[in-house]
Amino acid sequence: MKYYLFATAILLLCVVACGDDPTGMTEEPILDQLSTYQIIQTEIWDKNCTSCHQAGTSQAKQSDLILTSDVSYAELTQKDPKNTAAQRDELQRVGTKGLQSVYTSFLWEKINYPDYAHYYDDHPDYGALMPQGGRSLTNGELRFVSEWIIAGAPDTGQVVDVALLEDTDRFEIPVGDYERLEAPVSGHQLQLGPFDIEPQSEREFLYFTPLGNDQEIYVNRVEIGMREGSHHMILYDYPQGDRPAQEVYRDYYNKDGSPNLFTIASVLNQRFVFGTQLRDSDYQFPDGVALRIPADAGFDLNSHYVNRTDDVHVGEVSINLHTIPKSQVSKVAENLFESYQDILLPAGQITTEERVSTFDERIHVFQLTSHAHEHMMTYEIFIEGGDRDGEQVYFTNDWEHPPLVTFDPPITLEKGQGLRSRATYDNDTDKTLRFGLLSEDEMMILFGAYYTD
Ligand code: HEC
Repeated sequence: MKYYLFATAILLLCVVACGDDPTGMTEEPILDQLSTYQIIQTEIWDKNCTSCHQAGTSQAKQSDLILTSDVSYAELTQKDPKNTAAQRDELQRVGTKGLQSVYTSFLWEKINYPDYAHYYDDHPDYGALMPQGGRSLTNGELRFVSEWIIAGAPDTGQVVDVALLEDTDRFEIPVGDYERLEAPVSGHQLQLGPFDIEPQSEREFLYFTPLGNDQEIYVNRVEIGMREGSHHMILYDYPQGDRPAQEVYRDYYNKDGSPNLFTIASVLNQRFVFGTQLRDSDYQFPDGVALRIPADAGFDLNSHYVNRTDDVHVGEVSINLHTIPKSQVSKVAENLFESYQDILLPAGQITTEERVSTFDERIHVFQLTSHAHEHMMTYEIFIEGGDRDGEQVYFTNDWEHPPLVTFDPPITLEKGQGLRSRATYDNDTDKTLRFGLLSEDEMMILFGAYYTD
């Protein structure tokens, strides 16, 4: 009797907690036979969202969003956001323009937990991250939804690989105090700060740190940990002999808010090496791929913090460059740096500049970002040539905070193929704008990282 009760309790517990039917009576739909959106519906919305987002609940009223299968697609693609800040920013709930819609879809902003720092710092009026309650969708689910948006957010058809859902890791917002990373077993640690950010302000600066390596090293993993409030962290280097002053803070803006011309002049030959927008990131290069860092190297560390509080905030960053011996390196990663300096933007006009960079060997691009100044409206990057000719791989409409996009698997470009940059500028001044360092001048730069065979 006792045993029987126990077994029933276990069964009941399982019915309640496991979510799966322990008797095996109901059939799980076979995912391969469903469209991408049906999978999103049954595997993601039904399991994480419809408890609130269904007809009749107070949450559905508050959000004016219903995610049950009868109406969810239309609710997402045909109705504007209810949130007024999102309306003001001209977001759609879900856009159907492919990659650029990732950046203009409110749904993506609301579920993209790993970018929570950006969400809360830049969009305090967007409400809570979803699902409300603090537990992010899995990394696989997030990737699945973003790939669906990139594919144009169709109602029907299979456009995303179901295998992505196998990644069931979940991002968690770090709690508690920041702790400096433990130094790598093999490699170097760079430490930035602590430094102060004044109340209700932003601080962006550079700080050149020598690495202290007397020999060439090979880095195959970059780990970055930051105290909260960070917007981004980028590592740059310079051609030999072209370094800025060492170990001093070079702020982009003076205390009175004017641009610091010395800092601006110091970055002319800067080359992007690696960057992240996440507070805790750990990037492992593909097997056998490593960055080659020459002896006696150093990095210009570019940090950008935002402090929306009324108190002084302390920022701090630690960076681990994990190394492997040269004998284990089969492919060397390189920086991609294409600065298009011959741009010409007539006064009072919107101008689109397009430039193509082709490569004279086969390359594998694993990170891309862009740089321009305040007249930039959009910067897009497309694949040029080959099977994927014309495919958009990068989009930003934010000149100040362009995304740092990583590609896994990398984008492979055959010899002779390339990347097309398309930048659109609104020159609302009364003089022609050209390439230049000052914020009233413009730039058009494609940055990235790649390796060759
Ligand atoms: C515990 C209840 C709850 C759950 C679960 C939940 N939401 Fe929400 N959601 C809300 C509330 C309340 C709002 C309105 C306030 C806000 O935006 O923070 C909202 C707002 C939204 C909005 C903004 C709607 C608009 O147009 O302003 C989106 C998009 C959204 N939720 C998506 C989701 C998705 C996707 C899931 C599941 C992954 C989810 N929500 C799970 C309660 C919930």
